[in-house]
Amino acid sequence: MIRLDGKQTSNEIKEEIKVTVSEMKARGERMPHLAAVLVGNDGASLTYVGSKVRSCEYVGFDSTLIRLEEDITEDALLAQIDTLNKDESLDGYIVQLPLPKHIDEEKILLAIDPKKDVDGFHPANFGRMALELDAFIPATPFGIMQLLERYKVPTSGKHCVVVGRSHIVGRPISILMSQKGPAGNATVTVAHSRTENLAELTRQADIIVMALGIPEYLTADMVKEGAAIIDVGITRVPNESHPKGYVIKGDVAFDEVAQKSSFITPVPGGVGPMTIAMLLKNTLLARQWNLS
Ligand code: GUN
Repeated sequence: MIRLDGKQTSNEIKEEIKVTVSEMKARGERMPHLAAVLVGNDGASLTYVGSKVRSCEYVGFDSTLIRLEEDITEDALLAQIDTLNKDESLDGYIVQLPLPKHIDEEKILLAIDPKKDVDGFHPANFGRMALELDAFIPATPFGIMQLLERYKVPTSGKHCVVVGRSHIVGRPISILMSQKGPAGNATVTVAHSRTENLAELTRQADIIVMALGIPEYLTADMVKEGAAIIDVGITRVPNESHPKGYVIKGDVAFDEVAQKSSFITPVPGGVGPMTIAMLLKNTLLARQWNLS
């Protein structure tokens, strides 16, 4: 069994980006520039955005954090987005989710210029991805594809069962893995909460992508010997004996499933750490696409 180490792989990707950035600097080019918009004071969002900004600094990108009051109006946020769309010093930006309840998230995401949408949440990027055009791919499916490719997990001609059909994980990964190219050419089944006889399907799978959000749902009896397992779940499960009062659990009963699998991502330390590296990668791509 090989563990797909997301921490190590994301560090490798950051080092590769750092090298590219220093070459750009040597040529006298402007550095890639990412901005993050954070509305309000949600603790988890502050942590995420903080580590995104620190990672930008680490690889040599310029970064800007725009903090807005919790009670900002939707119109004022749309005006801020318009400013960011027009800012030529900026290659890409993200609006950290979730937004306060009085703001229509979909309206905000639709207002982002697709050319600067490094989260890949705009329908134009989803459509471009599906049509195999240059596109910003959301960080989680992009990170999974990188793990599969870098660890040379066999996918061509293999049966992949994706459990979950969300717009930012299940649906895009099912499209990407069925496309031509590295980590692609798989035969993909999309299963979800309404799927009947799920275990019958997962037992036929060479690769299982779990993106359901139910802790330790996938057990050893649901898995074929030698399958590759990708766990996207990150659920906080209350645990008094832990200093934080909770532990993070994936969708896979790791210990028992690991014994039957060829490859497996741990939680934490698997898919999760890849996401910031892929956001940086998208920002670099934004810089490169805007040059051409
Ligand atoms: N909130 C949690 N994850 C994400 C993400 O990847 N992008 C944005 N914009 N908000 C998030």
